Amino acid sequence: LAPQDLAGVTVLVTLGPTREFFDPARFWSNPSTGLMGASLVTAAWLRGATVHAVCGPGVPDLPPGVQRHDVVSAVEMHAAAMALFEQAQLTICSAAVADFAPEPYGASKFKKDASDEPFTVSFVRNPDILATMGQEKALGQLLVGFAAETDNLELHAQAKLARKNADMLVANRIGAPGSGFASATNAVYVVDRQGRAEQWPGLPKPEVAWRLLDWLLPELQRSA
Ligand code: C5P
Repeated sequence: LAPQDLAGVTVLVTLGPTREFFDPARFWSNPSTGLMGASLVTAAWLRGATVHAVCGPGVPDLPPGVQRHDVVSAVEMHAAAMALFEQAQLTICSAAVADFAPEPYGASKFKKDASDEPFTVSFVRNPDILATMGQEKALGQLLVGFAAETDNLELHAQAKLARKNADMLVANRIGAPGSGFASATNAVYVVDRQGRAEQWPGLPKPEVAWRLLDWLLPELQRSA
Protein backbone atom coordinates (compact mmCIF):
# COMPACT_ATOMS: atom_id res chain seq x y z
CA LEU A 1 0.00 0.00 0.00
CA ALA A 2 1.23 3.52 -0.80
CA PRO A 3 2.00 5.79 2.16
CA GLN A 4 -1.05 7.95 2.93
CA ASP A 5 1.17 10.98 3.38
CA LEU A 6 -1.16 13.27 1.38
CA ALA A 7 -4.31 12.37 3.35
CA GLY A 8 -6.25 15.55 4.10
CA VAL A 9 -4.54 17.47 1.29
CA THR A 10 -6.54 18.74 -1.71
CA VAL A 11 -4.56 18.64 -4.95
CA LEU A 12 -5.58 20.32 -8.22
CA VAL A 13 -3.93 19.27 -11.48
CA THR A 14 -4.43 20.69 -14.98
CA LEU A 15 -3.43 18.26 -17.70
CA GLY A 16 -3.52 17.49 -21.38
CA PRO A 17 -3.75 19.86 -24.33
CA THR A 18 -6.42 22.43 -25.07
CA ARG A 19 -8.23 22.80 -28.38
CA GLU A 20 -8.96 26.18 -29.88
CA PHE A 21 -11.58 25.86 -32.58
CA PHE A 22 -11.37 27.96 -35.75
CA ASP A 23 -14.58 26.57 -37.22
CA PRO A 24 -16.67 23.50 -36.38
CA ALA A 25 -14.22 21.25 -38.29
CA ARG A 26 -10.79 22.65 -37.37
CA PHE A 27 -8.80 23.51 -34.28
CA TRP A 28 -5.36 24.66 -33.10
CA SER A 29 -3.68 22.42 -30.50
CA ASN A 30 -0.45 20.59 -29.58
CA PRO A 31 0.75 16.97 -29.16
CA SER A 32 0.23 16.72 -25.37
CA THR A 33 -1.35 13.43 -24.22
CA GLY A 34 -1.73 14.31 -20.54
CA LEU A 35 0.43 11.38 -19.47
CA MET A 36 2.67 13.41 -17.12
CA GLY A 37 -0.43 14.99 -15.55
CA ALA A 38 -2.21 11.64 -15.27
CA SER A 39 0.86 10.27 -13.47
CA LEU A 40 0.71 13.16 -11.01
CA VAL A 41 -3.03 12.70 -10.47
CA THR A 42 -2.59 8.97 -9.86
CA ALA A 43 0.37 9.39 -7.53
CA ALA A 44 -1.43 12.04 -5.44
CA TRP A 45 -4.56 9.88 -5.29
CA LEU A 46 -2.59 6.75 -4.27
CA ARG A 47 -1.01 8.78 -1.49
CA GLY A 48 -4.40 9.71 -0.05
CA ALA A 49 -5.04 13.21 -1.45
CA THR A 50 -8.40 14.52 -2.59
CA VAL A 51 -7.67 15.13 -6.26
CA HIS A 52 -9.35 17.40 -8.80
CA ALA A 53 -8.18 16.90 -12.39
CA VAL A 54 -9.04 19.54 -15.00
CA CYS A 55 -8.53 17.64 -18.24
CA GLY A 56 -8.15 18.77 -21.81
CA PRO A 57 -9.25 16.47 -24.66
CA GLY A 58 -7.76 12.99 -24.92
CA VAL A 59 -6.60 12.57 -21.32
CA PRO A 60 -6.71 8.84 -20.45
CA ASP A 61 -8.94 7.29 -17.79
CA LEU A 62 -8.02 8.33 -14.25
CA PRO A 63 -8.52 6.39 -11.00
CA PRO A 64 -12.23 6.26 -10.04
CA GLY A 65 -11.80 8.31 -6.86
CA VAL A 66 -10.45 11.32 -8.77
CA GLN A 67 -12.81 14.22 -9.45
CA ARG A 68 -12.47 14.79 -13.15
CA HIS A 69 -13.53 17.98 -14.92
CA ASP A 70 -13.37 17.77 -18.72
CA VAL A 71 -12.82 20.93 -20.74
CA VAL A 72 -11.90 21.76 -24.33
CA SER A 73 -10.48 25.27 -24.69
CA ALA A 74 -8.01 27.31 -22.64
CA VAL A 75 -10.78 29.70 -21.63
CA GLU A 76 -12.82 26.77 -20.29
CA MET A 77 -9.78 25.30 -18.52
CA HIS A 78 -9.06 28.68 -16.94
CA ALA A 79 -12.64 28.95 -15.61
CA ALA A 80 -12.77 25.36 -14.31
CA ALA A 81 -9.34 25.54 -12.65
CA MET A 82 -9.90 28.95 -11.05
CA ALA A 83 -13.19 27.75 -9.56
CA LEU A 84 -11.30 24.94 -7.77
CA PHE A 85 -8.08 26.81 -7.00
CA GLU A 86 -8.93 28.29 -3.61
CA GLN A 87 -9.58 24.91 -1.98
CA ALA A 88 -6.31 23.33 -3.18
CA GLN A 89 -3.23 23.27 -0.96
CA LEU A 90 -1.21 22.05 -3.93
CA THR A 91 -1.89 23.00 -7.55
CA ILE A 92 0.12 21.55 -10.41
CA CYS A 93 -0.31 23.11 -13.85
CA SER A 94 0.92 20.40 -16.17
CA ALA A 95 -1.51 21.18 -19.01
CA ALA A 96 -0.09 22.20 -22.36
CA VAL A 97 -2.42 25.15 -22.71
CA ALA A 98 -2.55 26.71 -26.16
CA ASP A 99 -1.11 30.20 -25.72
CA PHE A 100 -3.14 31.54 -28.62
CA ALA A 101 -6.55 30.84 -30.14
CA PRO A 102 -7.52 31.54 -33.74
CA GLU A 103 -10.08 34.29 -34.13
CA PRO A 104 -13.16 32.06 -34.69
CA TYR A 105 -14.45 31.92 -38.26
CA GLY A 106 -17.94 31.29 -36.99
CA ALA A 107 -20.63 28.64 -36.82
CA SER A 108 -20.32 27.64 -40.48
CA LYS A 109 -17.41 25.69 -41.98
CA PHE A 110 -14.69 27.67 -43.75
CA LYS A 111 -14.82 26.51 -47.38
CA LYS A 112 -11.43 25.80 -48.93
CA ASP A 113 -12.77 26.17 -52.47
CA ALA A 114 -14.19 29.67 -51.91
CA SER A 115 -10.95 31.04 -53.38
CA ASP A 116 -7.49 29.82 -54.46
CA GLU A 117 -5.81 32.66 -52.63
CA PRO A 118 -3.75 31.99 -49.50
CA PHE A 119 -5.48 33.31 -46.40
CA THR A 120 -4.49 34.65 -43.02
CA VAL A 121 -5.80 33.65 -39.61
CA SER A 122 -5.51 36.08 -36.68
CA PHE A 123 -4.81 34.76 -33.22
CA VAL A 124 -5.79 36.13 -29.84
CA ARG A 125 -3.86 35.47 -26.63
CA ASN A 126 -5.37 33.00 -24.14
CA PRO A 127 -5.46 33.58 -20.37
CA ASP A 128 -2.41 32.23 -18.54
CA ILE A 129 -3.84 29.96 -15.82
CA LEU A 130 -0.58 29.46 -13.93
CA ALA A 131 0.21 33.18 -13.93
CA THR A 132 -3.31 34.02 -12.70
CA MET A 133 -2.91 31.53 -9.86
CA GLY A 134 0.52 32.96 -9.05
CA GLN A 135 -1.09 36.35 -8.55
CA GLU A 136 -3.99 35.05 -6.51
CA LYS A 137 -2.38 32.41 -4.33
CA ALA A 138 -2.67 32.69 -0.57
CA LEU A 139 -0.20 31.80 2.15
CA GLY A 140 0.06 28.02 2.51
CA GLN A 141 -0.84 27.29 -1.13
CA LEU A 142 1.85 25.61 -3.24
CA LEU A 143 1.93 26.20 -6.97
CA VAL A 144 3.89 24.09 -9.46
CA GLY A 145 4.37 24.86 -13.14
CA PHE A 146 5.82 22.96 -16.05
CA ALA A 147 7.79 24.26 -19.00
CA ALA A 148 8.25 22.45 -22.29
CA GLU A 149 11.55 23.62 -23.71
CA THR A 150 13.87 22.63 -26.54
CA ASP A 151 16.99 24.28 -25.07
CA ASN A 152 18.35 26.26 -22.11
CA LEU A 153 16.11 24.38 -19.66
CA GLU A 154 17.70 25.85 -16.54
CA LEU A 155 17.46 29.44 -17.68
CA HIS A 156 13.88 29.18 -18.91
CA ALA A 157 12.79 27.31 -15.77
CA GLN A 158 14.26 29.91 -13.42
CA ALA A 159 12.78 32.78 -15.41
CA LYS A 160 9.34 31.15 -15.50
CA LEU A 161 9.41 30.35 -11.78
CA ALA A 162 9.88 34.04 -11.04
CA ARG A 163 7.59 35.44 -13.74
CA LYS A 164 4.64 33.23 -12.81
CA ASN A 165 5.24 33.44 -9.04
CA ALA A 166 5.30 29.63 -8.74
CA ASP A 167 6.88 27.62 -5.92
CA MET A 168 8.37 24.97 -8.18
CA LEU A 169 9.05 24.77 -11.89
CA VAL A 170 9.62 21.53 -13.78
CA ALA A 171 11.19 21.98 -17.20
CA ASN A 172 11.03 19.05 -19.57
CA ARG A 173 12.88 18.67 -22.80
CA ILE A 174 10.77 18.45 -25.94
CA GLY A 175 12.05 17.60 -29.39
CA ALA A 176 14.45 14.93 -28.05
CA PRO A 177 13.79 11.17 -27.84
CA GLY A 178 12.72 9.90 -24.39
CA SER A 179 11.24 13.15 -23.14
CA GLY A 180 8.32 15.51 -23.56
CA PHE A 181 5.09 15.13 -25.53
CA ALA A 182 3.65 11.62 -25.78
CA SER A 183 6.78 9.99 -24.33
CA ALA A 184 6.60 7.38 -21.54
CA THR A 185 9.64 8.96 -19.92
CA ASN A 186 10.63 12.50 -19.09
CA ALA A 187 14.03 14.16 -18.62
CA VAL A 188 13.46 17.13 -16.34
CA TYR A 189 15.21 19.98 -14.59
CA VAL A 190 13.46 20.91 -11.33
CA VAL A 191 13.93 24.17 -9.44
CA ASP A 192 12.04 25.53 -6.46
CA ARG A 193 11.51 28.91 -4.81
CA GLN A 194 14.22 28.17 -2.23
CA GLY A 195 16.74 27.79 -5.04
CA ARG A 196 17.10 24.03 -4.75
CA ALA A 197 17.60 22.60 -8.22
CA GLU A 198 18.13 19.13 -9.65
CA GLN A 199 18.57 17.59 -13.05
CA TRP A 200 16.95 14.16 -13.41
CA PRO A 201 17.83 11.70 -16.14
CA GLY A 202 15.09 10.25 -18.36
CA LEU A 203 12.72 8.53 -15.90
CA PRO A 204 9.28 6.96 -16.37
CA LYS A 205 6.64 9.68 -15.89
CA PRO A 206 5.06 7.87 -12.88
CA GLU A 207 8.45 7.97 -11.17
CA VAL A 208 8.93 11.67 -11.99
CA ALA A 209 5.48 12.29 -10.46
CA TRP A 210 6.28 10.32 -7.30
CA ARG A 211 9.58 12.14 -6.80
CA LEU A 212 7.99 15.56 -7.30
CA LEU A 213 5.46 14.78 -4.55
CA ASP A 214 8.29 13.56 -2.30
CA TRP A 215 10.03 16.90 -2.86
CA LEU A 216 6.88 18.91 -2.04
CA LEU A 217 5.80 16.82 0.96
CA PRO A 218 7.79 18.57 3.75
CA GLU A 219 6.46 21.98 2.73
CA LEU A 220 2.91 20.65 2.44
CA GLN A 221 3.17 19.16 5.92
CA ARG A 222 4.59 22.44 7.27
CA SER A 223 1.66 24.45 5.97
CA ALA A 224 -0.97 21.85 6.99
O1 C5P B 1 4.75 30.18 -20.53
P1 C5P B 1 4.63 28.71 -20.73
O2 C5P B 1 3.44 28.32 -21.55
O3 C5P B 1 5.89 28.05 -21.22
O4 C5P B 1 4.40 28.14 -19.26
C1 C5P B 1 4.15 26.81 -19.03
C2 C5P B 1 3.42 26.63 -17.73
O5 C5P B 1 2.34 27.55 -17.65
C3 C5P B 1 2.79 25.27 -17.58
O6 C5P B 1 2.74 24.96 -16.21
C4 C5P B 1 1.40 25.48 -18.15
O7 C5P B 1 0.47 24.55 -17.63
C5 C5P B 1 1.10 26.88 -17.69
N1 C5P B 1 0.23 27.64 -18.59
C6 C5P B 1 -1.06 27.94 -18.20
N2 C5P B 1 -1.86 28.69 -19.03
C7 C5P B 1 -1.41 29.13 -20.22
C8 C5P B 1 -0.10 28.82 -20.63
C9 C5P B 1 0.68 28.07 -19.80
O8 C5P B 1 -1.47 27.54 -17.11
N3 C5P B 1 -2.21 29.85 -21.01
